[in-house]
Amino acid sequence: MPNPNAAQAPVTVIGLGLMGQALAAAFLKNGHPTTVWNRSADKADELVATGAALAASVKDAVEASPLVVVCVSDYAAAHELLDPLAGSLAGRTLVNLGSASSSQARDTAKWAKDHEAAGYLDGAIMAFPAGIGTDAAVLLHSGPKSAYDEHEATLKALAPAATLYLGEDPGLASLHDVALLGVMWGIQNSFLHGAALLGAAGVKATDFATLATPLIAVVAQTVDAYAAQVDAGEYPGDDASVATHVGSMAHLLDESKELGVNTELPALFKAFGDRAMAAGHASSGYAALIEQFRKPSA
Ligand SMILES: NC(=O)c1ccc[n+]([C@@H]2O[C@H](COP(=O)([O-])OP(=O)(O)OC[C@H]3O[C@@H](n4cnc5c(N)ncnc54)[C@H](OP(=O)(O)O)[C@@H]3O)[C@@H](O)[C@H]2O)c1
Repeated sequence: MPNPNAAQAPVTVIGLGLMGQALAAAFLKNGHPTTVWNRSADKADELVATGAALAASVKDAVEASPLVVVCVSDYAAAHELLDPLAGSLAGRTLVNLGSASSSQARDTAKWAKDHEAAGYLDGAIMAFPAGIGTDAAVLLHSGPKSAYDEHEATLKALAPAATLYLGEDPGLASLHDVALLGVMWGIQNSFLHGAALLGAAGVKATDFATLATPLIAVVAQTVDAYAAQVDAGEYPGDDASVATHVGSMAHLLDESKELGVNTELPALFKAFGDRAMAAGHASSGYAALIEQFRKPSA
């Protein structure tokens, strides 16, 4: 049921895929008069049934609200929609929540400024659609602080516990997005590689998970200490040295070869460890590998 709180600011949502529908539903639930538009109009049916207004065109959708949230597959699609009606953006704030690179975000911010938008915020959604509007959602925003401050209360409908502002550079949200996704894939790939290794010895992934899950929690506790070392540029080897890690990496690589599972991930780990050793960090702590990650690939 729509929340009838008329005091809430109006908002438009363009793009009603899995994520856009969740965004619009969260705005509606919080009492924001919500206008929606999608290329395939039938995706608006459920939202309209719960109180959303379906705009007849993208232009009408943009012009319906001072805050326009776009969430389509990519920035090429967003530009395809918005470029022809850039004049309608004047005086409105555009929030782009689709995934992008930081340079695409900066280019779009410039485009919005050139078309006299009141503000452009780039955003990154660190949640699945089901988490939108709950305390599980994290939404990152970057761009003009004034635009963020003006619309923060509305944007909080999407991530009540963690609507975060990262800074004036509009590329920051996208940059954080990919960096955080990299952390996620790093953990997931390592778990899956380990499951393949143990699977070759007849161990079930579910049994491996009972040991891997608590280990992930322990490893997470090292992040703050490593972050401080990275920022300080000093890597005391007070838990385990790079040399000790590299010795174990060699075992992971050898086991993978012997059991006939893919060796690319352990080979990558060891390559970075070897390079850190060659750079004089054999007795440093693991955070010393940051120096290898900072270098462009050959
Ligand atoms: N789903 C997630 O868990 C999640 C999480 C974080 C971030 N995101 C990001 O959110 C964005 C949308 O994801 P999604 O899951 O909602 O994807 P989706 O379900 O595939 O929906 C894609 C949306 O983009 C629209 N679209 C694509 N190309 C278009 C074009 N050329 N012109 C007009 N509309 C176009 C689609 O319209 P039609 O319905 O007409 O095809 C649809 O509304 C992506 O950038 C994604 O990376 C998603």
